Amino acid sequence: MRQAGRYLPEYRVLRAEAGGFLDLCDNPDFATEVTLQPIRRYGFDGSILFSDILTIPRALGQDLAFAAGEGPVLGALPDHAGMEDRLASGQAAVVLDPAYRAVSQIRGALPETTTLIGFAGAPWTLATYMIEGGASKSYAATKAMAYGNPSGFAALIDLLVRSVAQHLIAQIKAGADAVMIFDSWAGSLDQAAQLAWSSAPLKAIVRLIRQEAPDTPVILFPRKAMFAARDLSGFDALVSLQVDYSNDLRSASALEFAAIQGNLDPGRLLGDRESVEAATRDVIGRVDRERSHVFNLGHGIFKESDPDAVHWVLDAVRS
Ligand code: CP3
Repeated sequence: MRQAGRYLPEYRVLRAEAGGFLDLCDNPDFATEVTLQPIRRYGFDGSILFSDILTIPRALGQDLAFAAGEGPVLGALPDHAGMEDRLASGQAAVVLDPAYRAVSQIRGALPETTTLIGFAGAPWTLATYMIEGGASKSYAATKAMAYGNPSGFAALIDLLVRSVAQHLIAQIKAGADAVMIFDSWAGSLDQAAQLAWSSAPLKAIVRLIRQEAPDTPVILFPRKAMFAARDLSGFDALVSLQVDYSNDLRSASALEFAAIQGNLDPGRLLGDRESVEAATRDVIGRVDRERSHVFNLGHGIFKESDPDAVHWVLDAVRS
């Protein structure tokens, strides 16, 4: 949940040195260093690769830039055959190779007991960026394609299922201990569409991963999408569920997942020490002691957060 990033002064220094965010991602040495920064500062039990979900659209041939303070800007959606060709020819994997080199360097540098998590975006969330060209409030263009051209949209989702699975398998082969799939915008879908475009593609990805990595834990994050979460319950013994902060951690923990993960509102970190500790204890109290719970934020940490507030959370969790 943006473990590394702009809330850390040491990150801002390195980003300025690299030139920009994508320059950090594209250089395995920078990506390794940025990944390790929060581990050194806080000693988290788990570490997440420093990269971005939008490296897949870029690897499939779509232009990508991060305009300062504006978020991602993507070029026109490439034609489908061209994207299939880049995936099949291995050109996509070449663009993504710095991430794999970073994974193996990070695995070598981390303490043995610190889990390294690889990740990717889910097909629906990637499709929204690819079709809208950036962030969106309504996802109107994406929904126009999903509901107006269902076969064209299904082909895009299917291409993304294979691209994401390949990317995650390569990270596992490079040394990732677990992988996480972010479906950040799944909550924009209705019940039937959550099953069609969020949980079904997520299951298809896990099945492809299982052909190569039968024992690797997978964490799914169908954000604000409990219809998808329920549909994912019980389908694979090594799948865990990350829960966003607007959903009920207690009822999510009754579902059949290897572990439940979440779900402190990152905005809570903007309060004083006492309120941060109380909010942390409140989250922990929502999951029964016998249930496997991986404490985490419910979404990405704010860039405005005081780095000390993360220490307050950790102290409360560990006590
Ligand atoms: O968590 C980590 O430390 C690992 C690295 C990571 C990043 N992005 C780095 C990043 C991860 C896991 C992501 C996932 C990601 N990226 C998601 C899914 C999770 C979520 O937030 O719902 C999404 C939707 C993206 C797409 C993306 N990347 C956006 C919308 C933005 C701009 C928003 C912003 O905060 O500026 C990014 C940029 C980005 N990705 C930054 C970082 C550290 C900030 C870049 C910077 O300015 O330095």
